[in-house]
Amino acid sequence: MKVLCFAGSLRQGSYNKKYVRVAHKILQTFAGVESEYLDLLDYPLPVYNGDIESKEFPQAARQLAAKVKDCDAVVISSPENNGAMAAALKNTIDWMSRVPGEDPWPGKWILLLGASPGALGAVRGLWHTRVPFEALNAIVYPTMSGLPRAHEAFAADGALKDSGAHERLNTLIGKFVEQIRK
Ligand SMILES: Cc1cc2nc3c(=O)[nH]c(=O)nc-3n(C[C@H](O)[C@H](O)[C@H](O)COP(=O)(O)O)c2cc1C
Repeated sequence: MKVLCFAGSLRQGSYNKKYVRVAHKILQTFAGVESEYLDLLDYPLPVYNGDIESKEFPQAARQLAAKVKDCDAVVISSPENNGAMAAALKNTIDWMSRVPGEDPWPGKWILLLGASPGALGAVRGLWHTRVPFEALNAIVYPTMSGLPRAHEAFAADGALKDSGAHERLNTLIGKFVEQIRK
């Protein structure tokens, strides 16, 4: 089983990159699971504009669509911006949905995570984040995990300081993997 992990943030020190990297490491502990982490910074995309689309289609959107097509499931950790989904992630999804001849999302399982310095751990934004994926016929796992107080959550090596938070993520990922295997 191949799983692709990435964050919906571009920021270098992103807490969502850290959180999804923890998920990526957990996935690697499951037998038969191959996990790949990628950084959206390596796939630069302009803000969607139909004129850019018709002049010079961004290669990064094709590359990302191919990566999604090649995996069985995707784990995304995304910030919440003003109570809703992150613009960088929405823009990425929109570009990918315009790649000619590619429709990588139907039937693809997605686990949504979020991290925020706030008390709610980005979960309000995750409810919005489900919408475009469901519109594209992906299957978004019902349970989502928000990491609150993310600015205090990580040790220097990137691990979660709170073993309970790590265990909860481990259990959720275990259930997600079990679901995909069914
Ligand atoms: C424009 C903007 C809006 C934000 N809105 C929210 C919000 O509604 N809820 C929240 O928990 N955090 C909000 N934040 C704070 C982000 O959660 C915080 O910047 C977080 O670190 C971003 O994720 P990252 O660390 O993965 O880059 C907002 C930040 C920005 C820049």
